[in-house]
Amino acid sequence: MSKTKIVVIGVGAVGATTAYTLLLRERVDELVLIDVNKDKARGDAIDMNHGLPFVGKTKVWAGDYEDCRGASIIIITAGAAQRPGETRVDLLKRNAAIFENIIDAVLQHNDDGILLIASNPVDIMSYFTWRKTQWPVERIIGSGTLLDSARFRYLIGEELGIDPRSIHAHIIGEHGDSELPVWSLANVAGTSIPLGEEKKERIFANTRDAAYEIISAKGATYYAIALALDRICTAILRDEGAVLNVSTLLKDYHGISDVYLGVPCVVDRSGVREVLKLSLSEREQRQLRMSAEKLQDLIRSMNE
Ligand code: NAD
Ligand code: LAC
Repeated sequence: MSKTKIVVIGVGAVGATTAYTLLLRERVDELVLIDVNKDKARGDAIDMNHGLPFVGKTKVWAGDYEDCRGASIIIITAGAAQRPGETRVDLLKRNAAIFENIIDAVLQHNDDGILLIASNPVDIMSYFTWRKTQWPVERIIGSGTLLDSARFRYLIGEELGIDPRSIHAHIIGEHGDSELPVWSLANVAGTSIPLGEEKKERIFANTRDAAYEIISAKGATYYAIALALDRICTAILRDEGAVLNVSTLLKDYHGISDVYLGVPCVVDRSGVREVLKLSLSEREQRQLRMSAEKLQDLIRSMNE
């Protein structure tokens, strides 16, 4: 049987926590850590290897781009992260330049894996990656609003005293300030969420602004995103057909095309197998178009 391999490029807070999560859950046979800071990748690999007697199975090493050969999934979490007060979009120029080099290097060694992007602004970085690689769109996936949807479901669950796994609710659009909650379809076992407007507004504001709160408290977010990335990898490796709010290229989605945004997608071994078109209210459609326009303006400004 062929071995499954995942490469993590960028072994900072998010990359290291993601690798550790994949290790704990014994998701793959081989896990490769790549970072421009080679000592950090080497140190993390040694440290994780010392834990293998407690979990077993995975081979972990600090590698180079040639190790992308044969990888099923290449996760990119490299680049600049927000400092307190910065938005995700503030990272665009710095991370676009970093991605140019990373993608060139990956392409020399892999042309049939899945690229899973987490670096911010994640929707734009995913779009640039798709354009640069010219790979089939299903194989370039952004983590999108999967994390935001998890935050949303957690906060609704807390309010209702219900397990967040039983809350069906979506955040869609940009992974960032223009995202929107799809309250019109949010439900628990088919029944609508019994909360007043004020509480709903507070829950959404806390969801949208969660990263700012965490970054100002401790400098970075990494545990929940690591679990979200692990969830996407699992859907791919197990060919699950799971519905996850990842970022993908939209084609006439409520009139929106040629931009990556977070929407519910069916994820399996092929990557994003299908994009699910939600029946949005007029207001939600308008908000989604505004989110798309914001990102398209930013993409245009990078092309000028
Ligand atoms: P970090 O600064 O801790 O780590 C970034 C790592 O990237 C560092 O180890 C750095 O050495 C490495 N790096 C920089 N340039 C590189 C290059 N050219 N090649 C290889 N490695 C390189 O940052 P972090 O907190 O881990 O965040 C990483 C990214 O993930 C940021 O852009 C952040 O905004 C984003 N993020 C996204 C989500 C999400 O939901 N999508 C959640 C959290 C963080
Ligand atoms: C998040 C990152 C910062 O935690 O995008 O939402």
